[in-house]
Amino acid sequence: MDAVTDSLWFTGSILAIETSCDETSVAVLEGPHVLANVVASQVDMHRKWGGVVPEAAARAHVEAIVPTTQEALTAAGIGLRDVAGIAVTNRPGLVGALSVGVTFAKGLAFALSLPLVGVHHLEGHLLSPMAEPSTIMFPHLSLIVSGGHTEVVWVDAPGRYQLLGETIDDAAGEAFDKGARLLGLGYPGGRPLELLASGGDPKAYALPRSLPADPYHFSFSGLKTAMLRLVEREGDELRPADAAASLQEAIVDVLARKALRIAEERQAPFVSLVGGVSANRALRARLREGCERLGIGFSAPRPDLCTDNAAMIGLAGSIRLARGERDGPELDSLAQAPLP
Ligand code: KG4
Ligand code: ZN
Repeated sequence: MDAVTDSLWFTGSILAIETSCDETSVAVLEGPHVLANVVASQVDMHRKWGGVVPEAAARAHVEAIVPTTQEALTAAGIGLRDVAGIAVTNRPGLVGALSVGVTFAKGLAFALSLPLVGVHHLEGHLLSPMAEPSTIMFPHLSLIVSGGHTEVVWVDAPGRYQLLGETIDDAAGEAFDKGARLLGLGYPGGRPLELLASGGDPKAYALPRSLPADPYHFSFSGLKTAMLRLVEREGDELRPADAAASLQEAIVDVLARKALRIAEERQAPFVSLVGGVSANRALRARLREGCERLGIGFSAPRPDLCTDNAAMIGLAGSIRLARGERDGPELDSLAQAPLP
């Protein structure tokens, strides 16, 4: 297993930009050191619709991108003239939202004659633990759990990825969000559901564990339906904390069981847990315990790097810029894209 070395990183300050969904985020990094990571969230706006409205998201990024950049530079104690490279999420995501960050990044790179690189959003999540390089080893198996993705990826080294498995329907974050919505917890529901679950009994209600025949596939749509039936059946008798705890347990149980089985089968020396749902303490604890039992190393990003942020895009971008990768004015925003 290889530890992370210094030569991986681009020399000089990197400005990183993330606008793939509902957070406008700008970060400043030097190597793996995150000097600033500002996240301007739109969730209050989207909450009233119960989800992200793409057109409104793009418009909100337009309003937030300049002040968020100014705030990140001020927090890092540098000026625009001190920036040496630019990294921007260009795929996958909402095209209108992505285009705001990509167009802004291209403009800055052109005006300041700076190198620019487009970053795959999931590569950002995969490399987010590298903000603390001593906590991660390569190769490793990574479980990405976010609002849009549930994937198991073999990470040979930064930039070398193999997708092993994914969800065949809903993502794990969607299961949290839809369950939270049924319990009247608003959007996004993962964090409030976790808080409510902490006062509940995870064994109170029997919810199904969907274990598709293919060990590399996940499925959460059946759980969503079962949760709906539970809420309808119990009506006013429903104990919300118990329902939240039972739902969280069903999601955590499936994710941990499958990821650990794949880790064992692939003889992974190390496992990482990344993406917005990796902020969930029950999931972190379950995977950590499982890895310890198997004698496997385990890492998850610090809480502020779990949900969408530009620092993780800067980490991936720094490594790509250090390798000489460059994108030009043709850099496009893509709704779908495989891992690089
Ligand atoms: O990675 P992310 O910020 O955005 C995407 O790329 O999708 O993930 C957002 C997802 C949402 O579904 C949110 O409910 C979930 O992460 N989430 C959580 C927690 N914090 C965020 N789910 C469970 N427990 C949490 N503490
Ligand atoms: Zn994400």
